[in-house]
Amino acid sequence: MENTGGVRSATARAHSNIALAKYWGKRDAALNIPAVSSISVTLDGLSTDTTVRFDESLGTDEFRLDGRLVPADHAQSRRVVAVLELIRERAGLASRASVTSANNFPTGAGLASSASGFAALVVAASAAAGLDLSARELSILARRGSASAARSLFGGFVELHAGIADDGSDSFAEQLLDGEAWPLEVVVAITDSAVKAVSSTAGMQSTSATSPFYPAWIESSEDTVREMREAVLARDFRAVGELTEHSCLALHSLMLTTRPALIYWNAATVATIHAVRALRADGVPVYFTIDAGPQVKALCRPEDSQAVGDALAAVRGVRHAIRTGLGRAASLDVPPTDSFHSAPTAGTS
Ligand code: DP6
Repeated sequence: MENTGGVRSATARAHSNIALAKYWGKRDAALNIPAVSSISVTLDGLSTDTTVRFDESLGTDEFRLDGRLVPADHAQSRRVVAVLELIRERAGLASRASVTSANNFPTGAGLASSASGFAALVVAASAAAGLDLSARELSILARRGSASAARSLFGGFVELHAGIADDGSDSFAEQLLDGEAWPLEVVVAITDSAVKAVSSTAGMQSTSATSPFYPAWIESSEDTVREMREAVLARDFRAVGELTEHSCLALHSLMLTTRPALIYWNAATVATIHAVRALRADGVPVYFTIDAGPQVKALCRPEDSQAVGDALAAVRGVRHAIRTGLGRAASLDVPPTDSFHSAPTAGTS
């Protein structure tokens, strides 16, 4: 941490996560409070490093992502500035900041970076501002940027509570189980690198307004989360896997019944789902999940991850498969970047 003549800066690293029990829908859009609780695993191989410099000489906040200045009117920049405002308010600080963020996964790989990005931002910005916040408080701040980011404050298996308080003070994340206590792996099959057509925020707003399945989703989600929590704590891989696929397909049913429909899958997404089911029929315990995009994430045991990576990389339309273990909590400790394992593909598309 640096603190010299009008400049205060800090750097943090946070890892991405994928939800096993999904979040979709908000109970308060302004405070970004999720309508349902969710459970995720933090991914070691996908991380964001962010440096925040509060600088008295700056006239405006600046946000750079992977070497490029993001325009101030871009939605991403506006969210970053909104989170900086919360931190400035808390610290009684007036300085504008420069925020420099870099992902260790290939830019344009179609992998969401807002979870790791906002988690790294709040850790770096609060340290640079001289605040000493608990992980719970940091997760509430990260949630304001992107709800899935609240989960990236923690390592291993993590639950984000929807809570009931109007001000969102009980909508925070906490760790359920350390990754080392149950070292599962995830294979990410990249099927398309284009930026997603409809953002999660816009998509969930449209779903809550138009899908006839939305009330059923809200009603059933707490049961799914409770069963998932119990399965994680019991380290029951089959139960975790079955619930993961159920939550994913319930989410995509909601998306398909939104007007206009949200169809995030492509042909390779469907082919990869079938490849996962075929592996399972052959006796390899592996389960898929898919977010608001066409990539497929497969949850498996470490001893199967090489075979799963090879099988998914060979699916027609899969560009590459990234293998990763479970990640650590977001932190100011930033060692040299870990590289991910990328299995070669069969060379299609
Ligand atoms: C499908 O956290 O990106 O990945 O809070 O509006 O920024 P905002 O949404 P975001 O949504 C993630 C949706 C999801 C499921 C999940 O991660 O739980």
